[in-house]
Amino acid sequence: MSPLTPNPMPLSTPYPDSPRRAPLGTRAKPLPLIIDCDPGHDDAMAIAIAIARPELNLLGVTVVAGNSILPNTFLNTRRVLALLGAHDMPVAAGAAVPLVRPLFTAAYVHGESGLEGADLPEPAGRVHEAGAVDLIATLVAASPEPVVLAPLGPLTNIALFIQAHPELISKVSHISWMGGAVGEGNVTSAAEFNVYVDPDAAAVVFASGIPITMVGLDATHLAKMGAAERARLEATGNRAGRVFSDLLGFFEVFYQERYGWDYCAIHDAVAVAHLVDPELVAVVHAAVDIELADLQRGRTVVDWFPDRLRDRGRAASVDVAVGVDSARFADLLVDAIGQFA
Ligand code: BDR
Ligand code: CA
Repeated sequence: MSPLTPNPMPLSTPYPDSPRRAPLGTRAKPLPLIIDCDPGHDDAMAIAIAIARPELNLLGVTVVAGNSILPNTFLNTRRVLALLGAHDMPVAAGAAVPLVRPLFTAAYVHGESGLEGADLPEPAGRVHEAGAVDLIATLVAASPEPVVLAPLGPLTNIALFIQAHPELISKVSHISWMGGAVGEGNVTSAAEFNVYVDPDAAAVVFASGIPITMVGLDATHLAKMGAAERARLEATGNRAGRVFSDLLGFFEVFYQERYGWDYCAIHDAVAVAHLVDPELVAVVHAAVDIELADLQRGRTVVDWFPDRLRDRGRAASVDVAVGVDSARFADLLVDAIGQFA
């Protein structure tokens, strides 16, 4: 096992060493994958990994409101697909608002459009007019192998899919979701953005019985990209490298102002990279509950102590990410972006 950078916001108790349970794609047997996203700078980089890596077979991309309103996140997704040459990728717009609550967006992180900082091409992709839930259902039903879902935003589309298609739940082998946190949140002290926006959807997804890896802030704050990585992207000499370097430059401003860091955290890319690299992410097996009450809205309550779980009649059924090999992550992402024209 490679050395994993310790959690920057450590808890006072050590994590038990738990083996990963997410399926792993291989070149010989690529994982069928659907991404649900709200681009978002880090969403865009996650899509690049999914398209570049031969261990993954990206079947389609669905879009949710989150970092910005749905028309923006949909347009951004299709522009990213164009940048990455994925002109025929099935793509569909989904929920414009969370299940119950009003939409809360992150223009303060990603800019007004949700993907500020670079000159992106005209939109591409094969638009599935029947919408995100229908596209997920169509792709899952048609796949000979069980499909992995990688939601990289609020879980609204995934919850709606689960509610509309209980007959397809058994054909989803795993959900690798960027969201949540063991420790401190990034919208409130209690909650990370994706779960804060739609905690009711998260509760539906976590109750579905589908195996989940929760890739939260404790891990993703270690997925660092800064000036050195920007220079490496520029050095690729390709358009994608330049565009992603520009996007990183914009994204870094928030991290500088908010945390005083000279790098930004590429959260969403970790949830996808985990599906191709078994050495990248450390996990702990835990039970996760989603808090819906106002004060701690969206808190992901993570518990891995066997005696407590036994007393509560709960199982440690979720893989919760608690560490990332930072250098390995940066190499993987730069290499993926370097593969495009
Ligand atoms: C998550 O929130 C969004 O702003 C990012 O795209 C990521 O999915 C991080 O909290
Ligand atoms: Ca996102």
